[in-house]
Amino acid sequence: MKSIKNANLRNKHVVLRVDFNVPIEKGKVTDDARINEVLSTISYILEKGGSVIIISHLGRPGGKKVSALSLAPVAKKLEKLLGKKVEFLTETVGAKAREKASALKPGQIMMLENLRFSPYEELNDRAFAEKLAGLGNIFVQEAFSNAHHAHASMVAITDYLPSYAGLHFAKEYEMLSDILNEPKKPFVFIAGGKKTETKVEALRGISQKADIILLGGGLANTFLMAEGYEVGRSFYEEEYVSDAEQALRDAFDSGCEVLLPQDVMVARNISKDTKEKEKDIEQIEADDIIADIGPKTISKYAQPIKFAGTIVWNGPLGIFEYKSFQAGTRGVASLIQESHAVAVVGGGDTLAALKELNIKEDFTYVSTAGGAMMEFLAGNKMPGVEALK
Ligand code: 3PG
Repeated sequence: MKSIKNANLRNKHVVLRVDFNVPIEKGKVTDDARINEVLSTISYILEKGGSVIIISHLGRPGGKKVSALSLAPVAKKLEKLLGKKVEFLTETVGAKAREKASALKPGQIMMLENLRFSPYEELNDRAFAEKLAGLGNIFVQEAFSNAHHAHASMVAITDYLPSYAGLHFAKEYEMLSDILNEPKKPFVFIAGGKKTETKVEALRGISQKADIILLGGGLANTFLMAEGYEVGRSFYEEEYVSDAEQALRDAFDSGCEVLLPQDVMVARNISKDTKEKEKDIEQIEADDIIADIGPKTISKYAQPIKFAGTIVWNGPLGIFEYKSFQAGTRGVASLIQESHAVAVVGGGDTLAALKELNIKEDFTYVSTAGGAMMEFLAGNKMPGVEALK
């Protein structure tokens, strides 16, 4: 994998793929961790005499234009953080984008609209990739957190331009490779959040390496269903229950222990005035919504965390956006910080939760990658990494 440090950037138009899939509320970015991570790469390109054409996805618009998923507010935020003008275009590969990109002078930055507004991005379409590549003369990959996807701006584009790993991409790759190759034992993996589709498959691979997996968040509900528990009206993903069963069998076969919540905080509806109640998992009723792990679960999870050599954590353990359901995520975060383990925390939602809960990012390494980090640690080939090799 060639690093951006080996590239001659002078007078080059650099197509920079980032992952600005960040939370946005009422037209404002509410967590800018993923933007901050790439500021040094943007400045590096500008200092070396290049100009930058930034491309990213945001959310899952399904190949259609969805105005709520426009990258316009992100461009504004980037402009503020950089203290430099960022020209935002409402298209990606049209005539205007070509014209504006070719007119860029060294030191200038432009950003294009959401790549996933085109159906061709997720199809890894070669013609679409060629058009993206046509906007510049060098490609720099900074979207490690999206490297588990074989999409046009992650894979096919590298066939059309000399391609390099960005500063942040290379750092993430090295850090996670160390854990993949030689985790200090016992290796404890903590998984929460949603996105069961990506995570359940990755957990099958992770269970081959980890000694203990601790589950929480919406993900745990699908596993609770797989174990035959009632989850009431809680979020869970029916279509992945059998995959969860398989993941539990795989973990058992490889001697990896999977711990599920023993008690949870439930409510009848989720709002800021919700009355929460602690219940053992066997007591969940049809009207209950599971919104956090309970105190008994936190105590149960404390033991493996305390004695871990390596801890990797991805995904909040509860609906942290509401005060009543923050204790699980907060409790687990402080247990990790008290441990002596190599502790890696990652994922957009996890970082957003740390910020919302005012938890200091006091871990060995904080990764912006969530699903991608899990797939990487599962030992899966990452299309976005392979394409750069
Ligand atoms: C992420 O947030 O994990 C990446 O941006 C990938 O997003 P996706 O899960 O919507 O593909």
